[in-house]
Amino acid sequence: MEGHVAQAALVHQSSAFARRPPPLGTSRALGSNVHTVNMTDYGPHWRLLRRAFASVALLPGARQWALEALVDDLTSASVAARENEVSPSEIFARALFRLFSLLCFGEELEESTLWAVREAQVGIISLAVKLSVFNLLPKIVLVVFWRRWVQLVRLRRRLDDLLIPIIRARSRNQLAVLRCRSMPSYLDALLVVELEEEVRRRRLIEEEIVNLCSEFLNASTETTSAALQWIMANLVKQPHVQDKLVAEIASVMGANKSMIVGEEEVKEMEYLKAVVLEGLRRHPPAHLLLPHTVAEEREVSGYVIPEGAVVNFAVAEMGKDEAVWKEAMEFRPERFMEGGEGEGLDLTGVRGIKMMPFGAGKRLCPGMGMAMLVLQYVVANLVWRFRWVEVAGKEVELAEEPGLTVGMKHPFLARLVPRTL
Ligand code: HEM
Repeated sequence: MEGHVAQAALVHQSSAFARRPPPLGTSRALGSNVHTVNMTDYGPHWRLLRRAFASVALLPGARQWALEALVDDLTSASVAARENEVSPSEIFARALFRLFSLLCFGEELEESTLWAVREAQVGIISLAVKLSVFNLLPKIVLVVFWRRWVQLVRLRRRLDDLLIPIIRARSRNQLAVLRCRSMPSYLDALLVVELEEEVRRRRLIEEEIVNLCSEFLNASTETTSAALQWIMANLVKQPHVQDKLVAEIASVMGANKSMIVGEEEVKEMEYLKAVVLEGLRRHPPAHLLLPHTVAEEREVSGYVIPEGAVVNFAVAEMGKDEAVWKEAMEFRPERFMEGGEGEGLDLTGVRGIKMMPFGAGKRLCPGMGMAMLVLQYVVANLVWRFRWVEVAGKEVELAEEPGLTVGMKHPFLARLVPRTL
């Protein structure tokens, strides 16, 4: 798909193209009143739910806490392994889950609860992907795959059992939390949402809040960890890019001999941002946007979109368009620097669309700013702490494996050599 067509639809006719088709099969069956942000149709309820994202703040303490846990996990895995070989993908996902669950609930969960929630979430995603045929042939799938279906419903109940006590406790303590403003969370914002329904205003019920928190955790962890994995894999494949990045970090850090690259320093690093953007261009975690639809017939750049048609936007294809990106299959962050074809890229798509890993228009990912910050911060710190080296005989392969997000087909392995400052 060409960027100007996507822009004509998602940006220039943003309200018309902000609609979602009605949820199907698995999503409908699992969703309590279908109140998740991504499935809610464009309108006042959706607007209220989106607003809850504004109160999620990524405080520096939270970021550093998650980073230290990540570095510790990578260090222990590399020390325990032969030749410091580490398979970091799951370690990344767990670290990001830890961080995003803090932002979601506003407090550290007990370790046993944290990992039980993750296990239920991962189980739900994997079953939902397997049962997605259910969306086309609901009756047949219920008969043939009933065991999986029962398992899915059980996992969803398990999530209720784990999260409802947290929701109740947070709700009881809410006044105290608001008063001392310790760590404002997504959950706090959801607890005060009031939906306007035909006859009355009402608060969200607990099962809806479980769905929304579950969506938050999935949407943030799966995408960001997939992106991080692809960026690090490319840095292993291309040591000269990694060296250039480390040189930029060293020049910004100057006389500061801290082991931690802080947020203020990260903001000054243009090559770091270019590396992250190149990762998102070359390997966007979502190959398609979530489906959009229109309530009435629309014309876009000469194409007629009939009322109710499901419109899919091809994100990955756009990032590989040779007419826009020179040697599009190469991982070359320099294209986002001065004079490159991606210089000054506007990720929101308002000034034009060359790539859109986060979508564009009204449905633009509400976690975009947070995801960019987390990726830049984590990538900078990971290459500052370790030299990421390819393992001889177990080279990184960049083949893709479709799923809820697009991951790596072959396990990603690297040797982590601690850097001395
Ligand atoms: C690298 C990381 C991420 C990528 C690539 C990404 C990408 C996307 C994409 C492509 C969409 C669909 C847009 C559309 O349908 O037009 C989306 C929607 C969404 N994302 Fe993200 N996302 C990321 C991180 C996050 C984070 C960190 C959060 C939460 C903190 C988040 C929450 C959401 C939500 C709730 C939606 C649904 C929005 C709506 O339908 O209005 N995402 N994201």
